[in-house]
Amino acid sequence: MTDSHSVTLTNKTTEKSFDMPVLSGTIGPDVVDIRTLQAQSGMFTYDPGFISTASCSSSITYIDGDEGVLLYRGYPIEQLAEQCTFLEVCYLLLNGELPDKKQLDSFTRNITMHTMVHDQLTNFFKGFRRDAHPMAVMVGIVGALSAFYHDSLDVKSKHDRDLSALRLLAKVPTIVAMCHKYSSGLPFMYPKNKLTYVENFMWMMHGTPCEDYQQNSVLVRALERILILHADHEQNASTSTVRLAGSSGANPFACITAGIACLWGAAHGGANEAVLKMLEQIGDVSQIDTYIKRAKDKNDNFRLMGFGHRVYKNYDPRAKLMRETCHEVLTELGLHDDKLFKLALELERIALEDEYFVAKKLYPNVDFYSGIVLRALGIPTNMFTAIFAMGRTVGWIAHWDEMISDPEQKIGRPRQLYKGAVKRNVTPISTR
Ligand code: SDX
Repeated sequence: MTDSHSVTLTNKTTEKSFDMPVLSGTIGPDVVDIRTLQAQSGMFTYDPGFISTASCSSSITYIDGDEGVLLYRGYPIEQLAEQCTFLEVCYLLLNGELPDKKQLDSFTRNITMHTMVHDQLTNFFKGFRRDAHPMAVMVGIVGALSAFYHDSLDVKSKHDRDLSALRLLAKVPTIVAMCHKYSSGLPFMYPKNKLTYVENFMWMMHGTPCEDYQQNSVLVRALERILILHADHEQNASTSTVRLAGSSGANPFACITAGIACLWGAAHGGANEAVLKMLEQIGDVSQIDTYIKRAKDKNDNFRLMGFGHRVYKNYDPRAKLMRETCHEVLTELGLHDDKLFKLALELERIALEDEYFVAKKLYPNVDFYSGIVLRALGIPTNMFTAIFAMGRTVGWIAHWDEMISDPEQKIGRPRQLYKGAVKRNVTPISTR
């Protein structure tokens, strides 16, 4: 970052002025460095939801919300989704460069050798009801991983951080598949080292001990692309949660668990499940206008799930790629007449012509089509956010590692605008 110039903040009441440097990144908006504001003025800034706040500097992902641009380490998401495997993208996000063949083979081998979980971990599942939401189980099981790896929890050790990263990347798909098997009353399937990362997940998710599982290359490629599209997204709510948890020195498994918990919210990663429920609720194209009206009604808390974004004020580039994937998968499966897909396409067309959505720049986001694809891939609706977490784990790890390696890093400790009671004395209960 360079200090290209500065800005002056003037308090018109006290007529005091405060100079603050302006910092520039490689691309994107400049930032006002307000770190000395409190010391200079005794005041805090106020920004609930962090609409105007850059919480850190980062080199991992860049988003231009107005142009609908998403870059992972400078590479456009469209090229990565088209030309790379998910593990290539994982290597890129973690190391900053795309791997050559030798690097990718070694990275893949290391991941493969960590895909099994400690057999004691299977006992943790037995404590959950079979109908527990998979994200509740994910929080429990991933959080429990730190009880198994006392040998690699030193966050100041690059070796330990790299080993924990491998373990998380390798084991989260196994745990996600176990969540599905447990809720279905089916036996857990062990990973197979001869399969690719995504083939392995499809095997553990859909395979059974009773017969061979036939991989479908179109479906495998579709899931590979879905994981790439979900891999990272700058300082979103769950990534910021991971960074904040990591800033206290918490171990990586606890930090990723915090990210999983935050992602579960319907306004964030839970939206893909909410979109499918919404489409099923709308039911038919004839009902679209009714629900569009409800989405615009301030007295109705109904929102068009899968629409809108804090950063994208143009089409989310991931939504375009997801819609293409949707079409490919449904065609491959002979479901091109899928009612929900047709309903989603019509809902998108109508919404994008409606002045409310146009004025508020509400476009489909990554979650709008992902649920339809995942459903076609045989993933149960309540597992959609777990799949999102499986893709986003690498982004969370990359940001966690970057944060710990950042010399400017401190424990995250925001302040507040206090609006509570002023100091007063306790009175005896007999007089209250
Ligand atoms: C993800 O941050 C990330 O990068 C997240 C993510 C990632 O990869 O990590 O991209 C993944 O979380 C995608 C978003 C998934 N969520 C949904 O699809 C849920 C539906 N969308 C919204 O709830 C909302 O759009 C948010 C949460 C996504 C963004 O909320 P903001 O930025 O706080 O915007 P807002 O809620 O203040 O909305 C601005 C206006 C409001 O109207 P006014 O108060 O200005 O009159 O737009 C309206 C909102 O009422 N609005 C909607 C709407 N989204 C916003 N109205 C109807 N339907 C919607 N979906």
